[in-house]
Amino acid sequence: MGYYVSDTLATDSATAVLTLAVTDVGEIVPGVVSLTLGSVDGLPLPGWEPGAHVELRLPNGLIRQYSLCGPESAGDSYRIAILDQGPGSRGGSRYLNADLRVGDTLDVLAVRNSFPLRTSTRTVLIAGGIGITAVLPMAQRLQADGADWELHHAVRHRSSAGLIEALDAGHTGRTDVYVGAEGMRLPLRAIMSDAIDGAAVYVCGPDRMVREAVEAAAELSVTLHVERFTPPDPAQDSTAQSFTAVIDSTGERIVVDAASTLLEALEDNGIDVMSSCRSGICGTCEVGLLAGAADHRDTVLTDDEKSRDDVIIPCISRAVSAELRLDL
Ligand code: FES
Repeated sequence: MGYYVSDTLATDSATAVLTLAVTDVGEIVPGVVSLTLGSVDGLPLPGWEPGAHVELRLPNGLIRQYSLCGPESAGDSYRIAILDQGPGSRGGSRYLNADLRVGDTLDVLAVRNSFPLRTSTRTVLIAGGIGITAVLPMAQRLQADGADWELHHAVRHRSSAGLIEALDAGHTGRTDVYVGAEGMRLPLRAIMSDAIDGAAVYVCGPDRMVREAVEAAAELSVTLHVERFTPPDPAQDSTAQSFTAVIDSTGERIVVDAASTLLEALEDNGIDVMSSCRSGICGTCEVGLLAGAADHRDTVLTDDEKSRDDVIIPCISRAVSAELRLDL
C-alpha cells in the first residue's frame, strides 16, 4: 500500500465552450453563495462524476475553477458554491458573490475531474472550509452505493458549520464538524492513523491541510487523494530553493527567493505577465523557456511539454537549475 497524490487532471467531459445561464443564486451560509447554472437552450449538460470541477470564464476575463457540488443526477444544471474572499480576493469570488444575477450568462470552458472517487473498502473524506464542495458529491455517491464512508469537516466559525446541511441535508449522520473558533481542531493525524487498514483518504482543503495530509500519508503508508483550493504556498515549501530568472530581451537578472513564485518575482520587477488562476491550472501565464531546467509543478502542460522544457508556468513552477532564461 502506498500513497497516491491526485493533483493532476484526470478526465475532461466538456471541451467545447458552454454558455450557461444563472438560474438560481443565493447566500447559503454567511459569505458563501450557491450558484446554479442551466443550459440556455434546454439541452442536457455534459455529465460529471464526484470530484469534478467546472472552469468558468467570468465576464471580467478571469478564469476560475469551482467544484461541482451536486446533485450529480441533475442533468440540466450545474451547482457550485463560492466563498466570498473579500477585498483580498483576486477578483473571481468577489465578482461571483456581488455582481451575478439570475439570467446572467457565464462561459464554462471545461468540466474536469482531477479528484476522481475510486473504489475502496472504506472511504474517509476530509474537507477544510469550502473544500466541502468537492467531497460532498463523493459522500452522496458513497451513500447511494451503500459504501462504508465517513466525513470530517473543519471550519473556522460556527456559521460555516451549516454548509453540509445547506448543500445536502440528507447525509449528516456520518459527519463530524470541527469549529476552529471554538477550539475544536481537526485530528487529521489520528483520522489518518485509523485509515491504515486499507481505507482511501480524500482531502480537499487549504494548502496547509493538504501538506499535513501528504506528510502523514507518507509516514503511515495511507492511500491519499488530494485537491487544493488554494495554490501551494512557496513560503511553506521547505524544498523550495532560490534561483535566478534571466530576461532574454534585456539581460536583466531577477533573483526568485524561496518564498516567492517566479510570477511574483517578475511582477515585483515591473515585468507584466498575464495571469488568472495563479495556481498552475489555467495556463494563462505560460512563458517561453530558452535555457535552464524547470521544476514543472503545474497541471496544464503535458508530460511531453514538460520534458521538452521549452515553456514554464511561472505562477507555480520553479527551477531545478540555478538559472532560467525566459523568452520575455
Ligand atoms: S495563472 Fe493560471 S496557470 Fe498560471
